[in-house]
Amino acid sequence: MITDIEVNKPEPIAFDKKLKSFTHGTEVRPIIEALKKGESILIKDFYNDGLSLLEDLHKYLKLKLPNKSFQEQQKYRSEYYKLSNLVLLEIVDHKLCTKKSPSIGWLEKLYPENKHFLLTFPQIQGLNSAWQWYQNGISIPVLRNKIHPYYGTYFPTRFEHLVLFDNWLKHYKGLKKTAIEIGIGCGVLSFQMIQHNFQKVYATDINPNAIVGLIEFMGTTKLARKIELNLGHLFGKWEMQTELIVFNPPWLPETHNLSSIDDAIYYNKTLFPDFFAEAKKRLLPEGKLVLIFSNLAQITNVTPEHPIEKELAEGNRFQLERCFKKSVKAASSKTKRDQHWRSSEEVELWVLTNI
Ligand SMILES: C[S@@+](CC[C@H](N)C(=O)[O-])C[C@H]1O[C@@H](n2cnc3c(N)ncnc32)[C@H](O)[C@@H]1O
Repeated sequence: MITDIEVNKPEPIAFDKKLKSFTHGTEVRPIIEALKKGESILIKDFYNDGLSLLEDLHKYLKLKLPNKSFQEQQKYRSEYYKLSNLVLLEIVDHKLCTKKSPSIGWLEKLYPENKHFLLTFPQIQGLNSAWQWYQNGISIPVLRNKIHPYYGTYFPTRFEHLVLFDNWLKHYKGLKKTAIEIGIGCGVLSFQMIQHNFQKVYATDINPNAIVGLIEFMGTTKLARKIELNLGHLFGKWEMQTELIVFNPPWLPETHNLSSIDDAIYYNKTLFPDFFAEAKKRLLPEGKLVLIFSNLAQITNVTPEHPIEKELAEGNRFQLERCFKKSVKAASSKTKRDQHWRSSEEVELWVLTNI
C-alpha cells in the first residue's frame, strides 16, 4: 500500500570531493587530531578500515578521559558520539562504496530517489543491525508468525509482559468487537488481540516509522482489515468507545531532550494524565483498561512515582480490578555485572475498570 507518511531516517550528507580520507596503513593519530578539529574523514577502501578507526578512537578516548562515574561515562560517550559521527561512508546507487561492506536494504528503501550521498559510520552501523532484525525477523513466543521490525521502531527483546497479556486474554470473558491500542510499535499486542479473536483493533503511534512499517508488513492481508492505523498522539483520530483499551507506554520518566525512538522509552509529565482523561471518554461502561508497566524506574531509583498507582489514588476515574506481576529473567552472565538490579525487575499488567 502506498503511503505519503514521511519516516524518520538519518539525514543524508551531500558528497564533497575535498574530504580527507582514511585507508588501511594511514597513520591514525593525525586522523584523530583532524576529527577533534571537527574535520570529516571519508572511509574509502575497505569497510573494515572504518571499524578499526572507530576502535582506535575508543582506545584514544579511554586514555584521555576517565570513564568511571556516571558523569564521566556521559562525557566519554558524548565525545565518542561527536567524533565517530565525523567518520563518513559514501553511498552510490543504494550501495556502500567501500569493499567488503554489508549490504543494507534500507539504503534503497529509505532513500529511493537519492543515488549519491554520505552517511556517518555509526548511522550505517545502526542501519545495518536494523536491516538484520528486519530481514531475519524475530520469533515471539506468544505469536504464530515472526515480526519484522521496521527501521527506527521499538520492538520487544524480552517477552514476560507478552506472556502476562496472553494469559489475561485467555481468561477474558467480555465482548471482543473492538479494541484500541495506543502506541502499537511493531504490532505485537494488537496481533495478540487478533489471535484471541478480537474483530477490530484501532491503533495509533506517534512514530511514523511504526505506522509505515505496519502498513508494509500487513500489506493486503486479512490483518490489514482487522487493524486500522493512525499516526497520532495518544488516541489520534479514534473517538469511538470500546470494550478494551491497551497501552504499553514508555516506562521511564524523561531526563533529557529526546530523539524520536526515545518516545518508546521515556514519558513526559503530561503523557499519563492526558492518557487517562482521554481513555475515560472512550471506555465503555463495562470495558477494561489494560496497561503494561514495570518497576524499572523504581528499582533503578529514577523516581519513586508510579504513574498508574498515582492515577488510581488521585484520578477518581478508574478502579483496580487486578494487577498481575511477573519477574524478568536474570540477564545473561555477560551483561549481569552492570545490571544487578535486573534480578528484582518485574513487569506488571494492570487491569482497570470504570468507577
Ligand atoms: C514501549 S513501546 C510499546 C510498543 C508495542 N505496543 C509493544 O508492546 O511492543 C511504546 C510505544 O508507544 C509509542 N508512543 C509513545 N508516546 C506516544 C503517544 N503520545 N501517542 C502514541 N504513541 C506513543 C512509541 O512510539 C512506542 O511505539
